[in-house]
Parts: sequence; C-alpha cells; structure tokens
Amino acid sequence: MSGDILFAATGWDSELWARKFETAAPQRKVHIYPEGITDPRINYAIVWKQAEGALAELPNLKVIFSLGAGVDHVFRDTKVPHVPVVRVVSNDLTNRMSEYVVWQVLDHHRMGMKYRTQQLSKTWAEDRAQPAAKDITVGMLGLGVLGKDAALKLKNLGFNVTGWSRSAHHIDGVLTFSGEAGLQDFLGGVDILVCLLPLTPATANIIAAPLINAMTKRGPLGAPVIINAGRGGLQNEADLLQALDEGRLSALSLDVFQQEPLPATSPFWTHPKVTLTPHCAAASDPNALVEPIIRQMAAFERGAALTNVVDLKLQY
Ligand code: OXD
Repeated sequence: MSGDILFAATGWDSELWARKFETAAPQRKVHIYPEGITDPRINYAIVWKQAEGALAELPNLKVIFSLGAGVDHVFRDTKVPHVPVVRVVSNDLTNRMSEYVVWQVLDHHRMGMKYRTQQLSKTWAEDRAQPAAKDITVGMLGLGVLGKDAALKLKNLGFNVTGWSRSAHHIDGVLTFSGEAGLQDFLGGVDILVCLLPLTPATANIIAAPLINAMTKRGPLGAPVIINAGRGGLQNEADLLQALDEGRLSALSLDVFQQEPLPATSPFWTHPKVTLTPHCAAASDPNALVEPIIRQMAAFERGAALTNVVDLKLQY
C-alpha cells in the first residue's frame, strides 16, 4: 500500500514540487497544504517551514521529510506530531554548501572586498603581501555532513583547517575539538570561522560577543572573519555589527539572518565589510531531492529502517 503525501512548504513553488513528486511516484497522491490536512490516506508530510499546526490533524501521519538539511523550521511548529523526522542528506546539497563556503573563504583570503572597491575607483595598487593558504586557519563550527565536506575541500586547497562539534569527530588532517571545554581552544586559533551548526535550543545565539572575543587577534587577516551559512538564529546581530565597527572582526559573510527576508532597514545591506546573500548557500533542488525521498518511502513501506532521522531530543 502506498501512502499519500502532504506537501506543506512556505515560500516555495509548491505546484512544481508536487508535480515532481507525482511524476516520481504516480501511485501516490500529493496534497498541497491546506488541502487534505485531515485525510487518513496521508502517511507522509514533506515540509519547509510548514504553517503552525499544518500537520496536527493528520490521523495517519508516519514520517515527516524536511526539504532542507536544517530541521529547526519543522520544530518551530509547536503542534508538530511526534513522528520520525528525516532531514535531507544529499551530495547535491552538500556540494552546493561546500561551494559557498570555499567561495567565501577564498574571497576573504584573496581580499576580494578590497579589490572590488579598488576597481570601483579605478585604482591599480599591486599587492604582493598575500598570505599563503597554509598560514590561514579556517575553523569549522559544526562537523556534520556539511561541515566535514567543506573542511576537506578547504584542506585540499591548502588551508590549515580545524573543527569543533558538540561530540567528538575525527577527520584526517583536521585538528578537531569538542564540547564546551574544547570551544575556547578551538576559537583561539581561528582566522576564519565558518558556522554550519544546526539551530537548536543549545546553539541559539552562540555567535555573540564572548565567541567573537575568544577568536585569535594575531592572524594574517588582521582581525578574524565570520562566515555564517547555518541559521540566523545562531547569531547576535548587534554584537556582530559592534565587533565589525570596533575592528574585533575584519569582515562577515552572511547567508542567513534572524529575520528573513532581511528588512530593508538592516545595516547589513550597506555595510562595507559585509558580504550578504539571501539564504541561497545551498538551494534544495527537486531534481536531486525528490527521488531519494520517494525511495525512502518505498523502503519504509517494505519494512526497512529510515535513514537520516533527526534526534527529536537534540533537534538535529
Ligand atoms: C537547509 C537550508 O536547511 O538551505 O538546507 O537552509
């Protein structure tokens, strides 16, 4: 028996995604929220920032599939049913995130902001004092699938790469730290901090003054740089701006914000030391994500265990 699907995504082209799911699994009907919210034939919800209570009245919901690597959006809904939540783990998404991270790290390393400014004023100022990649330490805050992949790609480019995560991880050639006790030592050596942590009650607001002040002050980039492609809720935006303006940070790359879309009044838009992208570091592509989700449903119905299931206590 093939369970039906409820597609509940805010801000996405639901028709397009629903068509892709129906094409991949013609035997399953795809209901687009709010249609079908009490339908007993629905066994699966596929969600991105579902509306509060969107899944609460489904009598036979068995699995929730998140359309992103992060799942905080699922748990923002206080009425989300207690069924397994599966997150996206896909080479496509991982590669996209690593591209973004490598792009931003290289841009800071190779002084992209400075040269773009010089170009605007037609200034030819040769600069031979470029630090070598090996002299720059890139610290990955978060060593899940995305963090590990980006760490290895940066390592291959010659950067000195370190990493921190809540629980211990081993990555060849990467010095890793873990737990509360390891955080200060990790931060003390980092020139460019890349944040790919999940947003959970334990990580909310972690990128704030104490973390910024613990980062190295002696690095080849002058002051440290922070790149956040995790979630806006991880960052204290007032602290970031103050640290930039006081020279405790030299630059920021932000793909995520506390409020999205970023309001036009935000000082980040025009800050000369900020590179800003609109939460597009790793887009979810239906051509890559639909088939694996449909395969998981079929396997689940044959009795196989689900993979990439979120720990409901830790919320990642
Ligand atoms: C994700 C995202 O969670 O793109 O995958 O934000």
